[in-house]
Amino acid sequence: MELVPLASAEEIASLVADIVELAVTRDPGTVLGLATGSTPLPTYQELIRRHRAGSGPSWDGVTTFNLDEYVGLPPGHEQSYLATIRRELTDDLGIEPARVHGPDAAEAGLPTAGERYEAAIEAAGGVDLQILGIGTNGHLAFNEQGSSLGSPTRIKTLTAQTRLDNARFFGSPDEVPRHVLTQGIGTILRARHLVLIATGAGKAEAVAAAVEGPVSASCPASMLQLHPHATVLVDEAAASRLERLSYYAEVYAAKPGWQAH
Ligand code: F6R
Repeated sequence: MELVPLASAEEIASLVADIVELAVTRDPGTVLGLATGSTPLPTYQELIRRHRAGSGPSWDGVTTFNLDEYVGLPPGHEQSYLATIRRELTDDLGIEPARVHGPDAAEAGLPTAGERYEAAIEAAGGVDLQILGIGTNGHLAFNEQGSSLGSPTRIKTLTAQTRLDNARFFGSPDEVPRHVLTQGIGTILRARHLVLIATGAGKAEAVAAAVEGPVSASCPASMLQLHPHATVLVDEAAASRLERLSYYAEVYAAKPGWQAH
């Protein structure tokens, strides 16, 4: 795992935008895995800014898969994660809606939605680059504490903490759906490169547990320790509970120029 300690969310956004653009430049058919929530927004805004400035790659051949989706929202609800990712990123990059995927939360198809999503990811050739955030309780996508480290896409029940954390997007915690469809830990582990972003003091404890704690279903994000190519980018506040922070900073400062992220 590579731990990249940076000064601010802006620096992280710039570096993650570089990583994403490099992947798309190298392979115009890149399959991107996308997180929603607040954390990746500066990165998405930076990608859009570069695209508008004409300095980014072509996005025409890129396919995207969201990590997760709320269950029980009316079709077209503005807080659905598919609507969110189109509004916050893919529409502005000009990625056709048919190439932008999320788990299908329509009620009638729920029993097979996980299987169908796994099949769609596989048919696209798997996720090349997966952007991730982390929950204050260490959740990854919507794999809450106790989720199997081998899990596929399936329905999950959000914890009270996660519903409280996400209430800012809704009128109140009660309006946050209780159920979600989420890529499993096993699904995420199959992506070729994982890029986790954590910013702000509220994530410091979860980051320390994920990076320096034991690999455990009690901290689903600790599964990153099992992945052969995981990059974790933290700002100063999110890094504040890391015991080996000075070592990570030393490694990053001494990183050979030829070594890509
Ligand atoms: C979102 C997702 C979640 C968020 C996490 C952090 O698609 O899968 O795991 O990444 O809840 O959310 P923010 O970034 O809003 O703090």
